[in-house]
Amino acid sequence: MIIDPWGSQKYEYEKLFEDFGIKKFEEELWKDLPRPPFFFRRKIVFGHRDFERIKDAIKNGKPWALLTGLMPSGKMHFGHKIVIDQAIYYQSIGADVNIAVADIEAYATRGYSLKEAERIAIDEYILNYIALGLKPCRIYFQSKNEDVKDLAYLLAKKANLSEVNAIYGFKGSTNMAHVFAPFVQTGDILHVQMEKYSGLCPTLVPVGVDQDPHIRFCRDLADAHRFYSIIPQDEKIGVFVKGDEKVKELLDEAEEAIKKHGEIIERKDDYKAIYARVDDIFSLDYELAKIERSHGGYGFILPSSTYHRFISGLDGNKMSSSRPQYALFLTDTPQEAKKKIWAAKTGGAMTAEEQRKHGGKPEECIIYELFTYGILEDDKELQDIYSRCKGGDLLCGECKKLAYQLIEQFLISLKEKRENARDMLKEYIS
Ligand code: TRP
Ligand code: SF4
Repeated sequence: MIIDPWGSQKYEYEKLFEDFGIKKFEEELWKDLPRPPFFFRRKIVFGHRDFERIKDAIKNGKPWALLTGLMPSGKMHFGHKIVIDQAIYYQSIGADVNIAVADIEAYATRGYSLKEAERIAIDEYILNYIALGLKPCRIYFQSKNEDVKDLAYLLAKKANLSEVNAIYGFKGSTNMAHVFAPFVQTGDILHVQMEKYSGLCPTLVPVGVDQDPHIRFCRDLADAHRFYSIIPQDEKIGVFVKGDEKVKELLDEAEEAIKKHGEIIERKDDYKAIYARVDDIFSLDYELAKIERSHGGYGFILPSSTYHRFISGLDGNKMSSSRPQYALFLTDTPQEAKKKIWAAKTGGAMTAEEQRKHGGKPEECIIYELFTYGILEDDKELQDIYSRCKGGDLLCGECKKLAYQLIEQFLISLKEKRENARDMLKEYIS
């Protein structure tokens, strides 16, 4: 299996854990974060890489950054909202938020001009982000950021064609701008750690699971440019110098850093290694990255990521702007939304009588799914709908009406906020 970030497949989430080494986003990770939001409580965010590092930063009041990206194509729908819900939450607990407008990617892979991409990004996405409650942060366009593009090019030195093809399965006919898009995304993710942006700090990239190939690729590239590697071995760790230059100096400096965080067991210069016991690997990694920077290296900390489930379309397949009748857009009028909700696939029985007798199937119901994706904030109310549906006390008509009312209120208030958002654009776009 290969994950295609530009395709439209549905995912067996369980397989992703085994096949790609994505870790489960267990309750342990989020339960003592401030005000756990619905996307944690309802397991919409289901997987991660290295979220522990972000948690450590949050717990210890260390600076950290968030970077995510938007593809300016089509209209913004409820499936796109989940990543902004996350950005808003993390912003409220201290993340320095950066958002990439993937205009180069839209140009390379979807055939948009940069001009069109800009208009879509602003009108369809950024205005909605502001309306949803994102506070001023840094939103930039890939095509306008020289650091992103330089990094894309320079980091590319340590990836070769076979590696790229093994991940993405490009064909001989794939255009080269498309082939280069993952490098630009790597530039997006890592440039925030440059001194002129967020600086050296843990970086979280919350994305849909289709983006995992880019995350893996980016982490590998960041790692390939590191001077040191830290390898955990049972109770201890090995710190290795990877290259052949300045080995003694780098080992000396690593030794100093390690002493601050634990104790040295053994230094073996001929192995370019120091074995040690440390209590705080994240801090050590940070110190080592700093040393690398002082020697002219990039010293990027490997980015962390989280993965969320995709919301279904109203017919049960993927929600996508290319199938507008089954997608709920943030710019839909209440009338449009009403029509679509009324036609949505539910987990109801064929007849009301049957449903009263045997109950419905909320786990197969798109209306219920909409509730879980934040339309309904309150867990008790959600639980109540679940059990009343199961017990046959709640019928789909009533349930759809409730969904519609909530969505109607939401759409009306969002539209109002969107109208004021245009004046605020300059506080966001750099
Ligand atoms: N490739 C992403 C998409 O298709 C957009 C994107 C560009 C992105 N750069 C990013 C996402 C950096 C996360 C981080 O939606
Ligand atoms: Fe879905 Fe509500 Fe019908 Fe149950 S009653 S199947 S939750 S629409």
